[in-house]
Amino acid sequence: MKQYMNENFKHFLHGGDYSPEQWINTPEVWDEDMRLMKLANCNEMSVGIFSWAKLEPAEGVYDFSFLDTILDKIYAAGGRVFLATPSGARPHWMADAHPEVLRVNERGERMHFGVRHNHCYTSPYYREKVAQINGKLSERYGSHPAVIGWHISNEYGGRCYCPLCQEAFRGWLKKKYDNNIDKLNFQWWTTFWSHTYNSFDQVEAPSPIGDTFSGLELDWKRFISDQTADFLRAEAAAVRKYSDLPVTTNFMFHYTGLNYNVLAKEIDFISWDSYPEWHHPGELSDAEMAAKHALTHDAFRALKKKPFFLMESAPSHVNWHDVNKLKRPGVHRLASLQAVAHGSDSVQYFQWRKSRGSNEKFHGAVVDHLGNENTRVFREVSALGQTLKDIEEVLGTVPNPRVALIMDVENKWALDLAQGFQKNEKKYSTTCQQFYNWFWRHAIDIDVIDAHRDLGGYDLVVAPMLYMTPRETIEILEKYVREGGTLIGGYMLGMVNENDLCYLGGFPGEELKEVFGVWNEEIDTLYPTERNAIQCNKCGDEFAVADYCERIHPAEGTEVMAVYRDDFYAGEPAVVKNRYGKGTTYYLATRDIGGEESFKARLLARVCGELGIKSNLASYTEGVTAHSRIDDENGIRYLFVENYTPKDAEVDMGVEAIDVETRERVSGKFTLPAYSVRIFRQMM
Ligand code: GLA
Ligand code: ZN
Repeated sequence: MKQYMNENFKHFLHGGDYSPEQWINTPEVWDEDMRLMKLANCNEMSVGIFSWAKLEPAEGVYDFSFLDTILDKIYAAGGRVFLATPSGARPHWMADAHPEVLRVNERGERMHFGVRHNHCYTSPYYREKVAQINGKLSERYGSHPAVIGWHISNEYGGRCYCPLCQEAFRGWLKKKYDNNIDKLNFQWWTTFWSHTYNSFDQVEAPSPIGDTFSGLELDWKRFISDQTADFLRAEAAAVRKYSDLPVTTNFMFHYTGLNYNVLAKEIDFISWDSYPEWHHPGELSDAEMAAKHALTHDAFRALKKKPFFLMESAPSHVNWHDVNKLKRPGVHRLASLQAVAHGSDSVQYFQWRKSRGSNEKFHGAVVDHLGNENTRVFREVSALGQTLKDIEEVLGTVPNPRVALIMDVENKWALDLAQGFQKNEKKYSTTCQQFYNWFWRHAIDIDVIDAHRDLGGYDLVVAPMLYMTPRETIEILEKYVREGGTLIGGYMLGMVNENDLCYLGGFPGEELKEVFGVWNEEIDTLYPTERNAIQCNKCGDEFAVADYCERIHPAEGTEVMAVYRDDFYAGEPAVVKNRYGKGTTYYLATRDIGGEESFKARLLARVCGELGIKSNLASYTEGVTAHSRIDDENGIRYLFVENYTPKDAEVDMGVEAIDVETRERVSGKFTLPAYSVRIFRQMM
């Protein structure tokens, strides 16, 4: 079934962050913005994100006049608004009169007034002021016809170590450990180095001038997520008081300071800000860059399994990369429709109009300092807006992948904290990305999920380096395989519980040994440039491996697929396959390297073949991929075929289809120009 963010406005949103308050003394600019908004085929503006100092110029003195005017103007011009709550940046007077709103760093120093995104999430005064202004905005605009949703704050993140936050942390711990300090001491293993706490009052947040160890660090990170989610809940409650419009907050690319699974529960729809670094020679190819952002699209979509929103992207370039290069012609359309291909129901920008001064005046925008429509960027934006109108039938549909990749943020925290292996860089994200890239290259739709999600509905699940397996995760994995699922895991699997206490009795912990039919006796960590190899038992081919080689013992009946070639464990098993219940598992005891030539690539191709998991394309071309969105009610599959290379590509979809934009009927085979995308309708 199609799912809409707002039933009263069933259109792709095209627009972005708009700061009319910066032009309050030149209202003719506002009128020009309205003219340009229509010309740019835009229908949405995100307003009020950093407007607090204008809306409440002095404590308790409110002035909504500019918002009144601008919302009416936008509506009159056919646009709609995501109305923001202004908590992302507070007014000066507030910090001066109430320093408790200012953050304290991990060394205990209170920050001065400045920049943004730096408030204390605990301060009762800040929470009260936020609730007041949110309530007023909601009361005044909650049923304004222009407003279609709430944009809560902006890019929540960071931590505060003030006394209020420290006290809240202790309260959080008391709740988690049933007010029993012995329970905490056990889970944090504080007998080590005589760190035993006598009472909760002694607990302090981790600090470079205080204590740091994984149990404490992990709970502190969880507390930060919970406290931020609690702040978000309070913000959302204040706007929901007078309004039943849907609520979101904008998430960030690869931001691991928060567990977004926790925040997602507080909002009605997911949105995020995507700024790929295109055309970066020597770094990633454009295709690799696309795959990196594709993974994040798939992770954010999978949070709610419904369309998400691309809340910000750069119409041309940003100002905060080391080198702020222009997107090559066509790339704007391609990158924007990439988001749509993965399930976004919007293309929104930071920013509508370039500021005249201060930090972001050289950040790309739809409207440049020139001030009119006569720019390449404006024309590309406008053309994209037309495309979004032309493909409106895709709105509300969602991909429905049969494959999932488990990439779990708490697992990343724990691995990063683990003192051992390659101490400073375990390469968890890179490893997940490498598995993901295989599916991306082969145009297979995939969800990216955390380790607490029910896996029913997936035919194949890949869980690399899943070091932290809380009891719940062990049960989820066990049940999934027992009931017939196929699960790929490997080195470092199931070593610790949620508090980083090692499982006793051999790794992987508890039932996972039976599920994978393997016991991991020890891990050989290689120096970064060292290599070993594994040899396939069936075909005899060899594949390079690096970083980690576990010495594993297969259980009886477990099939050995490959063995190590070198070192004192040459000939010992390196990859095994096991049957458990109705399902199958594969355990890769070592990190194989290389793209299409790797052992992993062969294994994934074989497993997908056996499970009938098919590519969206009938032919493979480097840098070309395809993603689908499903309209199950009408039996339609929308296929986005994407070329991220500077060369034209020969593509084969295997079936005839209709180009949604041009209505042209195309046979399966066609030439896809460099840096371009086409969208097709296929009957399922
Ligand atoms: C973030 C912020 C925006 C803006 C952009 C610039 O995403 O949310 O306010 O600063 O970055 O790229
Ligand atoms: Zn604080």
